[in-house]
Amino acid sequence: MAEVPYAMWVEYLKMLWAKVGIQPRSVLEVCCGTGRICRMLAAEGYEVAGVDLSPEMIAEAKHIASESHLPIEFSVQDASEMRLNRRFDAALSFFDSLNNIIDYDRFAAAIQRTYEHLKPGGAFIFDLNTAYAFEHNMFDLFCKDKRAKVRYEWKGEWDAARSLCTIKMEFATDRERFSELHVQRAYSLAEVKQAMASAGFENVEIFHAYTMNPPRASSDRIHVLGLRG
Ligand SMILES: C[S@@+](CC[C@H](N)C(=O)[O-])C[C@H]1O[C@@H](n2cnc3c(N)ncnc32)[C@H](O)[C@@H]1O
Repeated sequence: MAEVPYAMWVEYLKMLWAKVGIQPRSVLEVCCGTGRICRMLAAEGYEVAGVDLSPEMIAEAKHIASESHLPIEFSVQDASEMRLNRRFDAALSFFDSLNNIIDYDRFAAAIQRTYEHLKPGGAFIFDLNTAYAFEHNMFDLFCKDKRAKVRYEWKGEWDAARSLCTIKMEFATDRERFSELHVQRAYSLAEVKQAMASAGFENVEIFHAYTMNPPRASSDRIHVLGLRG
């Protein structure tokens, strides 16, 4: 995560908010992980909540936020079944988190549940890896620096028939070695538009990542924006 350009992501988020003319005060991060973006927004004065499926991620998010004295409401929730009993001016889900939901109905349910947590006029913005990224082996990565604190070697296998990429991740530190298996699904633009429309989102726009331009055939990542009417 040390190499992730979170500051740029948050700037882009604000550019999209400005594009659709909203100035949110309350923000929900869906699939917040350890809450880095939540903390950046909370430090700027936004009222922030974050949800994630992983109790370990949420425990870490709560721990770091409390050490930083940032009042963020974190909870363990499956995005596809999320219930928070409140609504927000904006929602986001970054770092291809929704690609991790590999069943289309549950992916669409996560979008629907997010819609239900927005106030009228609220915006949902999320990013996704595309099939192009998986076809072009974007997950085949390794850290060459033998002095790095965490060294890694990742290898993805793309199953075009099922639109699934299975990534074997091996990590090593000076003290331990461990591995993880991640599976991501690529959703087509048509599937994304269908899920957004079924949830009720209006003015849906899809961008080539970090730009205001439409996606290209070679976009490896896209951003999706929709408004609750
Ligand atoms: C790559 S991490 C990104 C975390 C965070 N968005 C960030 O940018 O640092 C993906 C996160 O999605 C979460 N996740 C995956 N499936 C989920 C689901 N169905 N509901 C909620 N969170 C989920 C994982 O637990 C993980 O924390």
